[in-house]
Amino acid sequence: MTLEKIFQKHDNNEELLREDLYSLLTLRKEDEIRALIDKAYEVKLKHVGKKVFFRGLIEMSNICNKDCFYCGIRKSNKTVERYTMKEEEILAGAKFAFENNYGSMVLQSGERSDEMFISFVEDIITKIKTLSEGKLGITLSLGEQSLETYKRWFNAGAHRYLLRIETSNQTLYGKLHPADHNFQKRKNCLVLLKQAGFQVGTGVMIRLPFQTYDDLVNDIIFFKEMDIDMIGMGPYLLSNNTPLANEPKENYPIDEDVYQLAIKMIAVTRIYLKDVNIAATTALQAIKAFGREMGLKAGANIIMPNVTDTLYRPSYQLYDNKPCLDENADDCVNCLESRILNIDEEIGYGEWGDSIHFRNKIQ
Ligand code: 5AD
Ligand code: FES
Repeated sequence: MTLEKIFQKHDNNEELLREDLYSLLTLRKEDEIRALIDKAYEVKLKHVGKKVFFRGLIEMSNICNKDCFYCGIRKSNKTVERYTMKEEEILAGAKFAFENNYGSMVLQSGERSDEMFISFVEDIITKIKTLSEGKLGITLSLGEQSLETYKRWFNAGAHRYLLRIETSNQTLYGKLHPADHNFQKRKNCLVLLKQAGFQVGTGVMIRLPFQTYDDLVNDIIFFKEMDIDMIGMGPYLLSNNTPLANEPKENYPIDEDVYQLAIKMIAVTRIYLKDVNIAATTALQAIKAFGREMGLKAGANIIMPNVTDTLYRPSYQLYDNKPCLDENADDCVNCLESRILNIDEEIGYGEWGDSIHFRNKIQ
């Protein structure tokens, strides 16, 4: 089917089929990719509007019980110096996000499930709510936990949660993780999060070894089937000292520039899911100076500026060449604001910017 026919189908409110998504994702001609991006932007304006929302990101700790084969802070990586930020340092980051009118913040860390960690997080959430008079929205990105833990954190005041499925292909998931990492368990966490009351975000990595275009199309369908509210996805980037970094070229079935593919993934996801929040991720910026801005033009509406003290940033490298290692949070605000206004987007200062998809559901 031609591009125009697929867009027409979309405009007539017909559900796009798997093969339509495949056609869009595999576009290679420059003018067609341009048309795809423009269409995604049009869908974004119609369903979620022009505003970009900020979530100030704090990378609380790089201590992690997980051992994902691709990740720079995996448990077995002995070259990493481990840290946990002190409560005051985390609260200072939250205060910064609040005072700079970010509206929301994200608490992210390596995965831990011991009671000490659970109650530490619970306490931090309560204190952030207090210091911001309940005004700062809190998103968590703290991995797989029990329903009880999710409920405790929700009741303390967090209301959104990010847990990437990494890939919706269970076999591929098995190749990227040690045997004790369980795809079904992770998928079920998305259900538990919803049960606990959270707006739920998930996402995948793009152009992984062994990953095909069909896998990526299935990822987008997975987001819809799981009724996901927010999406965060980005290119898979090599991290030295990890097992996956040694994968030879012939094990990458997708032969396409990963930046172009990541932009197309955002665009197709926007067109198919319409009213979800989609993040323009740091990994996009890592491979292209204006990658995040292009993400916004292709349908993303969320940016997560890093407000972690620069002291800790070199130790939170999930992949090599992560940007903004030495900029402090103040520089990030100014640089981001002008970058976003430059591309004719607006900033939703002081607003939570919740997923409209979630809001539409509960009405
Ligand atoms: N490249 C890109 N993204 C990565 N992540 C972890 N390692 C990498 C990598 N090498 C992503 C995972 C995880 C998120 C916190 O960071 O998707 O869910
Ligand atoms: Fe799993 Fe870092 S160890 S993503």
